[in-house]
Amino acid sequence: MTLLEVRGLQVAYGGVVAVRDVSFAVAPGEVLAVLGANGAGKTTTLMAISGLVRVRAGDIRFDGVSTANDAPTSIARRGIAHVPAGRGLFPSLSVADNLRMGLYGAKRDGTAEGAADIEELLDTFPILRERRDQPAGTMSGGQQQQLVIARALAQRPRLLMLDEMSMGLAPAVVADLFALVADLKSRGIAVVMVEQFVGQALKVADRAIVLEQGSVVASGAPDELSQDDLAAAYLGGGEAPALDVRPAPDRARESLRLSLRGSDVRHLEQVAAERGVPVEQVLEEIIGGAL
Ligand SMILES: Nc1ncnc2c1ncn2[C@@H]1O[C@H](COP(=O)(O)OP(=O)(O)OP(=O)(O)O)[C@@H](O)[C@H]1O
Ligand SMILES: [Mg+2]
Repeated sequence: MTLLEVRGLQVAYGGVVAVRDVSFAVAPGEVLAVLGANGAGKTTTLMAISGLVRVRAGDIRFDGVSTANDAPTSIARRGIAHVPAGRGLFPSLSVADNLRMGLYGAKRDGTAEGAADIEELLDTFPILRERRDQPAGTMSGGQQQQLVIARALAQRPRLLMLDEMSMGLAPAVVADLFALVADLKSRGIAVVMVEQFVGQALKVADRAIVLEQGSVVASGAPDELSQDDLAAAYLGGGEAPALDVRPAPDRARESLRLSLRGSDVRHLEQVAAERGVPVEQVLEEIIGGAL
């Protein structure tokens, strides 16, 4: 059975093709990891599924119905919730009011059913019950991420899309979020997650796809993906000029720092945090061709 099917997806921003040819399917309760280097087209793929960018070619079917280029609100009502990168909470509103936002789209705000859902979510996320009346902006990054996911769950989605939920969070917090994804799966909710924490994502995912320059270059169950497949998820094909030269480590470090964009350096820092090793070690492994 297929819940979501993406076929030959193509999306462009003006003349720039961001997603060239992306196809995959997700079954109910399945967790799909979407991997790929910066700019590979991961976020754009999720946005196309949510109706936030125009589908130029190909099709998206949810529950057997084509939703390509439908209005975002109508797609959400069908049962797709999207947690974008960067969260998008209302920081001055209370935790409870932020949660209630998740009920509006389904027109369940102010209903007994909606209130019961909120109580259930507060059971699932005890920290949110504790902070219920506090402004969302006063919570830690990890707590805010829990709130955003809880808000998405208030929509009662059958598919939850998470774009870099672990970005900028401490490893222990990230581990909790991955445990939550496993729990959602056990409750039959399908999850599509874009992740830079590749190792942890693959522990939870049933399948993964690797995007490179807008196309799927590898897909399969985590144990079917080779190191070569995964290398594309770390640094992308042909996009890291400093990798072609092998100067002395100190100079290489300098040139990597200079030629990688800020987001790439951030990514290296995440990889280092995930593995509990210094950033310098990750850089050296890359320079040495080990990664
Ligand atoms: N609003 C936009 N206008 C023009 N080009 C864009 C826009 N958003 C993204 N792009 C381009 O589309 C391509 C895919 O971007 P996208 O954000 O989907 O990648 P990503 O895989 O999510 O990357 P990251 O890991 O950095 O989040 C990139 O080349 C990017 O520069
Ligand atoms: Mg992105």
